[in-house]
Amino acid sequence: MSTAQVPFAFPMVHVILFVFTASTIFHLQQRLVRIQPTWEELLPALTPAVTFRPTSQRAPSRPLGGMWTINAMGRLGNQMGEYATLYALAKENGRPAYIPAQMHSTLAPIFRISLPVLHSSTASRVPWQNYHLNDWMEERYRHIPAPYVRLTGYPCSWTFYHHLRHEILREFTLHDHVREEAQAFLRGLRVNGSRPSTFVGVHVRRGDYVRVMPQVWKGVVADRGYLEQALDWFRARYRSPVFVVTSNGMAWCRENIDASRGDVVFAGNGLESSPAKDFALLTQVNHTVMTIGTFGIWAAYLTGGDTIYLANYTLPDSPFLKIFKPEAAFLPEWVGINADLSPLLKH
Ligand SMILES: *[C@@H]1O[C@H](CO)[C@@H](O)[C@H](O)[C@H]1NC(C)=O
Ligand SMILES: *[C@@H]1O[C@H](CO)[C@@H](O)[C@H](O)[C@H]1NC(C)=O
Ligand SMILES: *[C@@H]1O[C@H](CO)[C@@H](O)[C@H](O)[C@H]1NC(C)=O
Repeated sequence: MSTAQVPFAFPMVHVILFVFTASTIFHLQQRLVRIQPTWEELLPALTPAVTFRPTSQRAPSRPLGGMWTINAMGRLGNQMGEYATLYALAKENGRPAYIPAQMHSTLAPIFRISLPVLHSSTASRVPWQNYHLNDWMEERYRHIPAPYVRLTGYPCSWTFYHHLRHEILREFTLHDHVREEAQAFLRGLRVNGSRPSTFVGVHVRRGDYVRVMPQVWKGVVADRGYLEQALDWFRARYRSPVFVVTSNGMAWCRENIDASRGDVVFAGNGLESSPAKDFALLTQVNHTVMTIGTFGIWAAYLTGGDTIYLANYTLPDSPFLKIFKPEAAFLPEWVGINADLSPLLKH
């Protein structure tokens, strides 16, 4: 079977299989006592010989060898989507998951992630089979037979991992110092002289999207009207909420979000190269207003409160809708506010 095909001039596989084996040792204990070989002898035998009771309903009935990874493409939000998708699909298929070093350097400074890192010198020696993913779960992804899979694409959809939500939230738990810095900022906020009890994170994605949405995707980014409606939705439901705005276009936000009531604070530093601070703020609040992009989607997913999103922000014939399914991106309980597409129709 799969592990028998591994060229054994390839010592990292042993190490990795050892780690995987150690993690399932509880299940294997009885058989190990009976077999008692050296680890080297044991490894090739594990795959066909051993069965164990699945720990979850979705786990396959046999532990398999091999090694799965995923490309580290895009910035923070994309890489979180890739991480969570790898985590879920590897588990679903009973394969050990390893992240590329580049993904580790993006995620590990912020989150207490647990998947081991694949050093690039090891990765370059693995006979990977690339496997492209759409941005939504499909039945065939539950049965990918290859032992050495590199998942590709930009998956960021709850349809891959929502059944493991508590594990995904644990993986994306902030480091204490990152969380504490955000909490200290929130503790300092006042509305009408008192500490607010409801904090709403507002993520306004601008930057390259301002140009790319109309020019490439026949779409729009969030405008002033959307943000007004979204903030009013919370003002109507909570007493004196405070809105914590982060954006990679803060100058636009200052001009277009009405702060005259004293309940809007422009926070974060908007630095795309060091997103930890903004992201931490957005997850320590109680509720979320997002615009577009995976950064906001992840902030909302981790915050887990009421979520307002920009809906239908492309024309119906947009090529964007071939790679993006809104129903796989936004949780059913999130509340969409339709975008104003009239600027696109003028041309
Ligand atoms: C501040 O207090 C005044 C007077 O109670 C109230 O009318 C106003 O809505 C409050 N502002 C906010 C942002 O809650
Ligand atoms: C809202 O968020 C603040 C800041 O993180 C937290 O202290 C508070 O407990 C949260 N409120 C609720 C109801 O979860
Ligand atoms: C977006 O458009 C679809 C199709 O027209 C519609 O069913 C859906 O309700 C719209 N979303 C919102 C939030 O109005």
